[in-house]
Amino acid sequence: MTPSDVKATLSFSDGSPSMELPIYKGSVGPDVIDIRKLYGQTGKFTYDPGFLSTASCNSTITYIDGDKGELLYRGYPIEQLAQNCDFMEVCYLLLKGELPNPQEKKDFDRLVTMHTMVNEQMQFFLRGFRRDAHPMAVMTGLVGALSAFYHDSTDVHNPEHRAIAAIRLIAKMPTLVAMSYKYGIGQPYIYPKNSLSYTANFMRMMFATPCEDYEPNEVLVRAMDRIFILHADHEQNASTSTVRLCGSSGTNPFAAIAAGVACLWGPAHGGANEACLNMLGDIQRQGGVEKIGEFIKQVKDKNSSVKLMGFGHRVYKNYDPRAKLMRETCHEVLGALGLENDPLFKLAMALEKIALEDEYFVARKLYPNVDFYSGIVQRAIGIPVPLFTAIFALARTVGWIAQLDEMIGDPEYKIGRPRQLFVGSTPRQVKPLAQRG
Ligand code: SDX
Repeated sequence: MTPSDVKATLSFSDGSPSMELPIYKGSVGPDVIDIRKLYGQTGKFTYDPGFLSTASCNSTITYIDGDKGELLYRGYPIEQLAQNCDFMEVCYLLLKGELPNPQEKKDFDRLVTMHTMVNEQMQFFLRGFRRDAHPMAVMTGLVGALSAFYHDSTDVHNPEHRAIAAIRLIAKMPTLVAMSYKYGIGQPYIYPKNSLSYTANFMRMMFATPCEDYEPNEVLVRAMDRIFILHADHEQNASTSTVRLCGSSGTNPFAAIAAGVACLWGPAHGGANEACLNMLGDIQRQGGVEKIGEFIKQVKDKNSSVKLMGFGHRVYKNYDPRAKLMRETCHEVLGALGLENDPLFKLAMALEKIALEDEYFVARKLYPNVDFYSGIVQRAIGIPVPLFTAIFALARTVGWIAQLDEMIGDPEYKIGRPRQLFVGSTPRQVKPLAQRG
């Protein structure tokens, strides 16, 4: 980060000494005001619940221009990556900072493939869950449980441990997601097949059975792979910030990623794709397109707490570029499956059109985000709705790992420990129980 010639001066109306604060410039995007010395020099904290104006770190991995609706992974626009790369190339890029050449890609694919099996003991964790457990409850448990099996890669301060833990997590997430799905439907687990690509292997583990193999449909595999690419990383979102804060204590990578899985589950974050599809299903059952006006009225009613799931974003105040690519993928997949007239897709496009012309959404710069169309594509591929967020977690694992690795690899990093504005009781004396009226 480059010191700016401009300084910020903080002055106080009560005549307290003013303070000069350095400003740093990034390679692109907003400058930052360095407040690290603020408390030491003024005895005051900044106050920013939800971190609307706070940069928690400096990073080289992903950049979002929310006003333009642009998303770059290591400087490459998401549209070009989605068009020209597969998910393994994007994993390599996020982890190492550059796209692989053909030999590097071949070696990386092979390395990941050789780690797709999980320890045979892992299956016994699933037996403790009810069959109808939400897949994210299962995944939170399984990912954390990986820490119990790989003691040779749990020292987060050892770069070699971090490297092997990264490969293990990227490789095993599809196996664990497929196992949580198979457990829920009472079918036996399908082992990985090394002759298949990463994404085709996942689709086979999901849909093959011991009685009948699964021939991956190339259009669906490509669509699934694109879904992984679009969800791979996204700056300091809630779950990535969770992974960074959790990992800052020095805990092992598996535990830190498990914390990210737990955070992603929330409907305001990664759980929005499931919530969005349920929302579309509700509108459809109540009458479909004719009912959109009534639904939008509920959304605009402050007392209703109804939100248009899949819309709005803390950073994007323009169209989420991933939503555009996801809508394209919807057209491709539904077309390939002869489902062009899928009622939910038509309902989603009608809802999007109405919302984008409504002053409530225009005034608040609310646009479709990645979750608005992703559920429709996944449902068409045959993914059950409760598994949508687990697939988001599968894809985001590489981003979480890259961000964790970047933090731990920074010699300046410290354990994260925010402060607070205390508004509770000032010191008071305890009365013994007998004296409390
Ligand atoms: C993801 O951070 C990331 O990068 C996340 C993510 C990633 O890749 O990691 O992109 C993935 O989580 C995408 C977001 C998925 N969530 C949803 O689709 C759930 C619905 N969206 C909202 O919950 C909301 O838009 C958030 C949580 C996404 C963003 O909330 P903010 O930034 O805190 O904005 P806000 O709640 O302050 O909203 C500003 C105004 C409010 O109205 P007013 O109080 O000003 O009158 O817009 C309204 C909100 O009520 N609003 C919505 C709305 N989103 C915001 N109103 C109706 N429907 C919505 N979806």
